[in-house]
Amino acid sequence: MPVPLQDILDRIATQMAALPDKGQVAAYIPELAQVDPNQFAIAVALPDGQVHTAGDAETRFSIQSVSKVFSLALALGRQGDQLWSRVGREPSGLPFNSILQLEHEGGIPRNPFINAGALVVTDAILDRNQPREVLGELLRFVQSAAEDSDIRINEHVARSETAHGDRNMALAHFLAAHGNLQNAPALTCGTYFHQCALEMTTRQLALAGRFLIGGPTSPQFPQLISPNSVRRINALMLTCGHYDGSGDFAYRVGLPGKSGVGGGILVIAPGRASIAVWSPGLNAQGNSQLGTLAVEQLATATGWSIF
Ligand code: DON
Repeated sequence: MPVPLQDILDRIATQMAALPDKGQVAAYIPELAQVDPNQFAIAVALPDGQVHTAGDAETRFSIQSVSKVFSLALALGRQGDQLWSRVGREPSGLPFNSILQLEHEGGIPRNPFINAGALVVTDAILDRNQPREVLGELLRFVQSAAEDSDIRINEHVARSETAHGDRNMALAHFLAAHGNLQNAPALTCGTYFHQCALEMTTRQLALAGRFLIGGPTSPQFPQLISPNSVRRINALMLTCGHYDGSGDFAYRVGLPGKSGVGGGILVIAPGRASIAVWSPGLNAQGNSQLGTLAVEQLATATGWSIF
C-alpha cells in the first residue's frame, strides 16, 4: 500500500529540521536578512481541493521571484505571443541578477524569470497604467488563484529592496537604452519591487499554484489562463525557473519549479498537484537549500517526476 501523502510530508519536515546546514538567508535585501533561517514548511494542494501541509505552513514569507510566475501569467493573458518579441525563452546559465548577456544580445533578456526578463514582463503588464492599478490586478489574480483574499504586499520589504535596488535599476536602464522598456526605469522597478514583496503562507502558495496543474477544471475552480499558457509556463519553469541552478533542479526533482530569494519554491506536478516549499536559507545559486532537498525527497517518494 502506498505511504499516505501526509506521512511523507511529516517525515520530510522532521528530516529537514535535523539538518544543520540550512544555507544562507538573502542579505542584499535588509528585511529578508532578518528572517530566522530555522524555519521550514511544505504544502501540497491537490486538484480536488485537498491540502496537506507540514512544518511552518501558516507563516507568511516574501515570495520574491516566485511572483514572476504570476506576472508572466498576466502578461501572456494580455499580450499573448507578442511578449516574445521583448524577452526570450532560453536558460541563461548565469545568476538571476546578471547583466552580462543583455549587452551581447541587444537588450533582449534570455527568459522571463531572470531579473532583466521579469522587469520586461512587469513593464509589459504596466503598459501605460498606474502601478497601483496593475499591482491591484496582480494581487487579485493571486488571491483568486488561492481562493483566499488574505494575501498582501509587504510595503516594508518593497521599500527595503527599493533602497538597495541599484542592480535592478541598472538592468532597467540598460533595457531602456535598448528601447526595451515602455516606462521610466524607476516606475517599472518600483512596480517590480512591490510585486516581489507579495507575502503569503506556504499553504496559500500551494493553493495559488493550482492554476498551473493543468487537466480538467471544476466549476468551483475555473480556469484562470489558457491550457496553452499552462504548458508554456511549466516549460519555462522547468528550463529557467532556478536560473543557473535549473539543470540541477530538473535533474534532482524532475518537475517545473520557480524559486525566490525569500526561500520559497513553487513546484508543479503536472496533472497531479501544486507544491509549495519554504525554508529561508539559500544555496549558492540563490535557491532554497532545504526547499530543494525537500521537493527532491517528495518527488522520489511519490514518483511524481515527469520523466
Ligand atoms: O529582484 C530581486 O533581486 C529580488 N526582488 C528577487 C530575486 C529572486 O527572488 C531571485 N530568486 N531566487
